[in-house]
Amino acid sequence: MSRLIVVSNRVNVPRGRENDGAQGGLAVALTSALKKSGGIWFGWSGKAAESFTGAVDYQRHGGVATATVDLDEQDVEEYYNGYANRTLWPVFHYRIDLADFDREFGRRYEAVNKKMAGTLAPMIDPGDMVWVHDYHFIPMASDLRAEGVANRIGFFLHTPWPPHRLMVALPYHRRLVETMLAYDVIGFQSDEWRESFLHYCEREMDGEVDGEWLTVEGRTIRCATFPIGIDAKVFAKLATGPDAQASYVRARDNVTGQIIVGVDRLDYSKGLIERFNGYRKLLEREEWLKKVTLLQIAPPSRGEVPAYGEIRDQLDMLSGRINGEHARVDWVPIRYVNKGYARPELAGIFRAAHVGLVTSLRDGMNLVAKEYVAAQDPEDPGVLLLSRFTGAAAQMEDGALLINPHSQLDIAKTLDQALRMGWEERKERWQTLYDGLNAYDVHHWAADFLEALKGADEA
Ligand code: F6P
Repeated sequence: MSRLIVVSNRVNVPRGRENDGAQGGLAVALTSALKKSGGIWFGWSGKAAESFTGAVDYQRHGGVATATVDLDEQDVEEYYNGYANRTLWPVFHYRIDLADFDREFGRRYEAVNKKMAGTLAPMIDPGDMVWVHDYHFIPMASDLRAEGVANRIGFFLHTPWPPHRLMVALPYHRRLVETMLAYDVIGFQSDEWRESFLHYCEREMDGEVDGEWLTVEGRTIRCATFPIGIDAKVFAKLATGPDAQASYVRARDNVTGQIIVGVDRLDYSKGLIERFNGYRKLLEREEWLKKVTLLQIAPPSRGEVPAYGEIRDQLDMLSGRINGEHARVDWVPIRYVNKGYARPELAGIFRAAHVGLVTSLRDGMNLVAKEYVAAQDPEDPGVLLLSRFTGAAAQMEDGALLINPHSQLDIAKTLDQALRMGWEERKERWQTLYDGLNAYDVHHWAADFLEALKGADEA
């Protein structure tokens, strides 16, 4: 049987009991796929060494082998903070205004991909399948081919792919996309991102598209949509466990009125400014004063990237202003928390919240929306408000209330609708969403992608 080699920037193997929901769904799905077929999860250790030695740290966690490598300080600065998070991330999230086009970043990104491929290649046996994840390692297949690796190699993009007209704002865009022709299967979170990619290939590279098949420069690649899910049943169970119960009670006992919850990495793509302003608009309707609280959990991330510091400052100011405008001695309208919580606690907070609010301006999928749904009490579920600009919207439009995060009025009106929604409608919407989560969970997602990759001919 062929082994699986997973490649991603971070290697997140569950370290506790494997499938108790306390680990992210992606990590659990990849771990269980790795356990089934045997193999290795390869990536960056998360550490910066003085120089890159290529020394591999082999470990076993919960029955899965991991192989990680330290990068050097300049790699972290120019590849991870630089090209990945200051160039590709903003471009892929339609924010070319925030993108830094620095030649050194691009050079270092290519160099890191090459040296990671050079380190990985000797670990790959004939017949192994290689599955590369996300924007950090787009050129990985092409670099592996240069090392003589002829195995099947697939790529899954967790972020959006921008429209052709935005993509061409990236200097050397074609040089980057050409490296993708070395994959056998390329997976996207939604048809929208897949179509943007195919459109780019048609316009810039004379690619020919026939359904899921793209032919460019004599290579035919399968480009398909695999919307990532969560392990809904396991997360639902987690939401009734003791830790979740405790955080449920803490939230319900200490927060005034109905709870609107948002949980996001502190990132400009999440529409947090728009969210706060939409909520502020709701508070203009005086009937909601002291009847509702926005609980926003936003752990800081990528703090070394300037745009992340800026959004953090703006949010500190805006939350302070809204609280100053509307707070009473016995009520604070926004509880804004810059810290992460363990998943069991988060599950309890989701269950305690009457409304889940997702306002991303652009999001590959958005798994918070799915976790909010899975955590609800089936007998008294809350309502999901979901930005139409997420990959999740294409799957959840029947049960969620879709919103345009750019419109404060739309957010306020829809929040009002959600907070007033009767039991029957809430239950019906929730059931639709929950059935959808179970019909295509994260294990289906991994199995589908690997099935597609299995079907591809070795290069
Ligand atoms: O797709 C975006 C993503 O890679 C997610 O999979 C992950 O949650 C997040 O970004 C983590 O970002 P970082 O590794 O930069 O902290």
